[in-house]
Amino acid sequence: MDTGRIRNAELASRVTSPEEAAAMIPAGANVGMSGFTGAGYPKVVPGALAERIAKINAGGGAPFKVNVWTGASTAPELDGALAAADGIDLRLPYQSDPVTREKINSGQMQYTDVHLSHVAQMAWEGFFGDLDVAIVEVSGITEDGRLIPSSSVGNNKTWLDRADKVILEVNSWQSPDLEGMHDIYYGTALPPERRPVPIMAPADRIGQPYFDVDPDKVVAIVETHAPDRNTPFKEPDDVSRAIAGHVLDFFAAEVRRGRIPANLLPLQSGVGNVANAVLAGLVDGPFEHLTAYTEVIQDGMLDLIESGKLDMASATAFSLSPAAIERLTADLEQFRDRILLRPQEISNHPEVIRRLGVIAMNGFIEADIYGHVNSTHLMGTRIQNGIGGSGDFARNGYVSIFVSPAVAKGGAISSIVPMVSHVDHTEHDVDVIVTEHGIADLRGLSPTRRARQIIAHCAAPEYRAALGDYLDRALASGRGAHTPHLLEEALDWHTRYLRDGTMRLS
Ligand code: COA
Repeated sequence: MDTGRIRNAELASRVTSPEEAAAMIPAGANVGMSGFTGAGYPKVVPGALAERIAKINAGGGAPFKVNVWTGASTAPELDGALAAADGIDLRLPYQSDPVTREKINSGQMQYTDVHLSHVAQMAWEGFFGDLDVAIVEVSGITEDGRLIPSSSVGNNKTWLDRADKVILEVNSWQSPDLEGMHDIYYGTALPPERRPVPIMAPADRIGQPYFDVDPDKVVAIVETHAPDRNTPFKEPDDVSRAIAGHVLDFFAAEVRRGRIPANLLPLQSGVGNVANAVLAGLVDGPFEHLTAYTEVIQDGMLDLIESGKLDMASATAFSLSPAAIERLTADLEQFRDRILLRPQEISNHPEVIRRLGVIAMNGFIEADIYGHVNSTHLMGTRIQNGIGGSGDFARNGYVSIFVSPAVAKGGAISSIVPMVSHVDHTEHDVDVIVTEHGIADLRGLSPTRRARQIIAHCAAPEYRAALGDYLDRALASGRGAHTPHLLEEALDWHTRYLRDGTMRLS
């Protein structure tokens, strides 16, 4: 297949099959793959590797596994295929694949859940070991051998720099118009050499549109023509529309009080359907000339750009439904000046997030009455996805908002509990909690006052009395009035659900 995407003659001579490329990956290797959500991940070499692993393991010898590092979650052709073949020993830094999740929760796979801004620095510091192979999807190779990034940037720069061997997938399905949309910054260093990252506004370009790669390390190139794969977002329902409405009212009140400008501050919107619904709410909202300094461009961001409400979005990846990908590709010229993709160490950089005053909006699984947030674990022990970038933005944003429906599993689970069963974001990093019932602005409040706000405004009505009763009895216990708890009872809501299938008392 000659797609004209490999414009460098020397590298064009290294084109090979997925099977031959997969054969270059040894057992036990640390493999850094591209991919951030279902965008820009290698489409065929992981599958060929999974087949090779399955064959070898069926032979009954020493188990063949690799360690897989990526930008974030990927798609069934990568995570799903390798997990199903039991080919992954350790996975990092984020996943959301059902097969992978099951293997992790059943103890068949190790998982290191890392703040996404930390991954590159931890790889450079060597905490994860040496990187043996990088497998990176690109949308083309220039005449002088530089790489045109694909629909996600993630950790690719770091993988290309750190790996001993590089395998490239050149995907001609990716729009050629992606060329020029990326901003790859080569100015990072480890302390004490680290310098300020000179981004003053989301639109600032500080790097170059291409990845550099040492051509001597490129051992194989595989040509593909395969789509990215993201699941469509659910249409906003009444619950997510109500949550979005509360967030918009909060923004309007903040503008009236003069705390944020009329065009707000740069927005970050996390993963999940509720976060996408908040963006959809902004399309019909009163705010103009918005900007985003965020991790992923999801459907709602495209809607905002098309509606003329969003001037500029900086991210590390697209995370679009198939329909939205078509809209993007058909009109990439329109979006080109309004979207910038950067390495995730920059899209999620604490220094930049703090400087710009990003408004962070992320989903939560459960929050407790004091405002501690669990974003990752179901009933304290089962990983759902991972912390992703939520900590990067929540800890460093100007205001950190967490959103979720007030109940799960048809009301059998209250998302507001006396004590969270796992903590990802402490009370110190959580400013505002929003459910369909209302909003609790926790800024400046002491723990017991936070608890009253959260119970009154965010908890589902049917759980409010029980939460209030817990707080009152904990206060009356005399064990400490600052953050009152009844430790023998604090996790009863979870154990009741595990035992009875509901957190309800009767
Ligand atoms: N206890 C147990 N299970 C719960 C629960 C709770 N308190 N709340 C939700 N669930 C279950 C849901 O029922 C659902 O299970 P199902 O698939 O069997 O129906 C599952 O958890 C996911 O819930 P859902 O409401 O569909 O999640 P979402 O798509 O809105 O995503 C998070 C919410 C928290 C999982 C998601 O935002 C996330 O992974 N966050 C962490 C990473 C992050 O914030 N990244 C953004 C940085 S840019």
